[in-house]
Amino acid sequence: MRKFSLLLFSILLWGSCKEKLPPLQLVQLDTVRLSESGLKVEVLADSLVVPWDLEVDSEGFLWVAEQEGKVSRINLETGEIKVMLLISDVWQVRTSGLLGMAVHPDFSQNPFVYLNYTVKNDSLITSRLFRYKFENDQLVQPELLLEIEGGTSHNGSRLAFGPDGKLYWATGDTHDFTYAQDVQKLNGKILRMNPDGTIPSDNPDPTSFVWAKGFRNMQGLVFSDKGLLYTSEHGDAIEDEINLIQAKGNYGWPKIEGKHDLDTEVEFAQANQSIEPIRSWTPVIAPAGMTFYGEKAIPEWTNSLLLTTLKGKSLRILQLSEDGKSITEEQILFENHYGRLRDVAVGPNGEIYLSTSNKDWNPQPGFPLAGDDKILKISVTDTLSSNPLEVSKPSESLILNGEQLYLNYCASCHKADGSGVAEVFPALAGSGLVEGDPEALIQIVLKGKNQMPAFGFLSNQEAAQILSYIRKQWGNQASEIKADQIEENR
Ligand code: HEC
Repeated sequence: MRKFSLLLFSILLWGSCKEKLPPLQLVQLDTVRLSESGLKVEVLADSLVVPWDLEVDSEGFLWVAEQEGKVSRINLETGEIKVMLLISDVWQVRTSGLLGMAVHPDFSQNPFVYLNYTVKNDSLITSRLFRYKFENDQLVQPELLLEIEGGTSHNGSRLAFGPDGKLYWATGDTHDFTYAQDVQKLNGKILRMNPDGTIPSDNPDPTSFVWAKGFRNMQGLVFSDKGLLYTSEHGDAIEDEINLIQAKGNYGWPKIEGKHDLDTEVEFAQANQSIEPIRSWTPVIAPAGMTFYGEKAIPEWTNSLLLTTLKGKSLRILQLSEDGKSITEEQILFENHYGRLRDVAVGPNGEIYLSTSNKDWNPQPGFPLAGDDKILKISVTDTLSSNPLEVSKPSESLILNGEQLYLNYCASCHKADGSGVAEVFPALAGSGLVEGDPEALIQIVLKGKNQMPAFGFLSNQEAAQILSYIRKQWGNQASEIKADQIEENR
């Protein structure tokens, strides 16, 4: 009895405290010096597990979708986090799981949250898009809008509402090389639908969801204030991309990677009117979530795309031209500082929220940090700390040595120390192929094999440097490989 009244008393006490919460006090990690403004970085939330998607609703709350299947809503004035939904049938392995999320743009009138997640029944993997209703601080009445093929990798995905009130879904190609160009398949596409999941009558083909095609694995999808639609996408071994999306556009995968700079690519592009990315990166940075920054709060960033990166472990500020059709400047912030970054969203006062992804399938040396995964809040401050962080420019192409080339091209899968990832990417340290016959080794690297991309685009010199490096590091001092040996094996 006594226990019970104590409990009752604590509940009452907690209830009354809740009414008078003090102004939000957050732990500050760093400050940042921009050309004119100063920023502070604070921890809004911690101890999360891969917060894949962040969305701010029209009532000023932040929604968080964690990859294992948890959806929460954070009150940005009090910091209070409430769990809205735990999905039990999410299939979460490596990059599958609860992925894209969108909230209806007019949330007070249409309290709907859209979620995409992977499921596996027996051996059948699918990717499902649901609409949930927000009611009494819970997501209820799930309605399945669309179910497409899923895969063990390349499931995308992102969701975004356009200024036309339609819902756009960026899907992955599930690692099938025939899907992205096949309009009968909904994978490797941007799909467009009405908020109730039906096909809009003004789609390019009014009987199909397909809005644009030719994509590999998109990780970012965002509309600008001018109504332009941008995507970020993972390339294979080379050519990560930012694309500006047009209705009916063909973006070339798997026939074209990045800019149209090979003869075969130019040919395909001419025959199929495919559209070049507005930015591409080789070596890859693994771009992830992206948002458009149109606010005045951080004037240096007005009219830019903010892009999180996983391999690049940084935030990229991509300044857009006046008409939004090109990227005029790129800046890098937080490189290697908070680890892998998964998504970014803009808050009601022009502040920014970033999520880390250090507890995902591919953690990097030195991460996760204490308290990961986190949601970081970035906002202006007048008071810089003694050691503020600064933005940097991407480095111009330098002449790299074997180790640097290995870190750029190979370490994202095989790891800096050659240990690989169990059951996914084989260890190179101790591998018979690495220390054995040079010909077999050169072949696998130039031609690729299964999920190992082909590196035939490397120069003879670069390939020789990488292979000599790994043979020296992990091949018991196996012989060096020369550029002419590479040439002979092309
Ligand atoms: C996207 C991930 C990825 C990247 C990047 C990558 N690899 Fe691989 N690699 C793989 C996978 C997957 C395999 C296993 C292929 C198979 O046998 O099915 C593999 C296999 C290998 C093997 C054979 C190992 C063995 O013992 O069977 C070598 C050698 C190798 N990679 C070297 C490299 C080098 C050198 C680079 C950089 C130039 C590189 N890889 C970049 C994924 C990757």
